[in-house]
Amino acid sequence: MISPRLLQIAMLVEKNKVVFDVGSDHALLPCFLVENGICEKVYAGEIAEGPLNHVKETVEKKGLQGKIIPVFSDGLAKAEDDVDIVVIAGMGYHTIRHVLESCDVGRYQYFLLQSNTDVDLLRRYLSEHMYTIEDERVVYDGFYYQIIRFSADLHDPYSEDEIKYGPILLKRRDEVFLAYLADLLDRYREINRQANKSEYDEKIKEIERILYN
Ligand SMILES: C[S@@+](CC[C@H](N)C(=O)[O-])C[C@H]1O[C@@H](n2cnc3c(N)ncnc32)[C@H](O)[C@@H]1O
Repeated sequence: MISPRLLQIAMLVEKNKVVFDVGSDHALLPCFLVENGICEKVYAGEIAEGPLNHVKETVEKKGLQGKIIPVFSDGLAKAEDDVDIVVIAGMGYHTIRHVLESCDVGRYQYFLLQSNTDVDLLRRYLSEHMYTIEDERVVYDGFYYQIIRFSADLHDPYSEDEIKYGPILLKRRDEVFLAYLADLLDRYREINRQANKSEYDEKIKEIERILYN
C-alpha cells in the first residue's frame, strides 16, 4: 500500500486522465494510479539516473510497460502533448518553483503540488501569477503535508491569511486542518516557553484567531 500522503494525492487525480509525475523516484504513485484503474497512462519523470532506473525496474517487475512511461527529464522539459495533469510531490519549494517556471503552465488541466518546505511561499508564488487554487488537503503522515491543486485559470491575488493557511483549507476547516493548526500552535508556544521569548507571539495570535473565531 502507498503512504497516506501519496494516497491523498492519488485521490485528487481525475479518472482517465494522462498524468506526468515529476520526480517519480520508485514510481509508487504511477503504479497505484494504473493498478487501481484511475489512469491508463502515466509518465514517470526523473532528472536522476538512479531513480529513473528504479522506475524502469518497477515497471518491468510489474509488467506495466506502455502504461507507465519512464522519462529522463528536468521537470516537464520532455513532456509529451497528451499530458493532462501534473504531479510535483515530495520536493522542496525551490525545486517545485523551478519546474513551474520552466514550463508552460497553461498547457495542463491542473497541477497537484506537495512541497516539503515553505508552502506559504509556494502559495505566494501562485497568487503572484494569478493562478487559481482549486482544491487543498492536509494529510498526516508522520508530518502534516499540504497538497494543492491549482490551474492557470485567472484568479485575483489571495489575501495574506489565504497565502499562509490556504484559501480552500480556511473555508473547509476540516478536522485534519484544525489538528494541523493546533499542532502548530503547540509548537510555537513550546518554542516561546523554552527560549523564554515572545518571538512567536504574533504567529500564536494569528493561529488562535483562525482556530477560535
Ligand atoms: C524525495 S523524491 C519524491 C518522490 C515522489 N515524488 C514522492 O512524492 O514520494 C524526489 C525526486 O525528485 C527528483 N527530482 C528532483 N528535481 C527534479 C527535477 N527538476 N525534475 C525531475 N525530477 C526531479 C529526484 O531525483 C528524486 O528522485
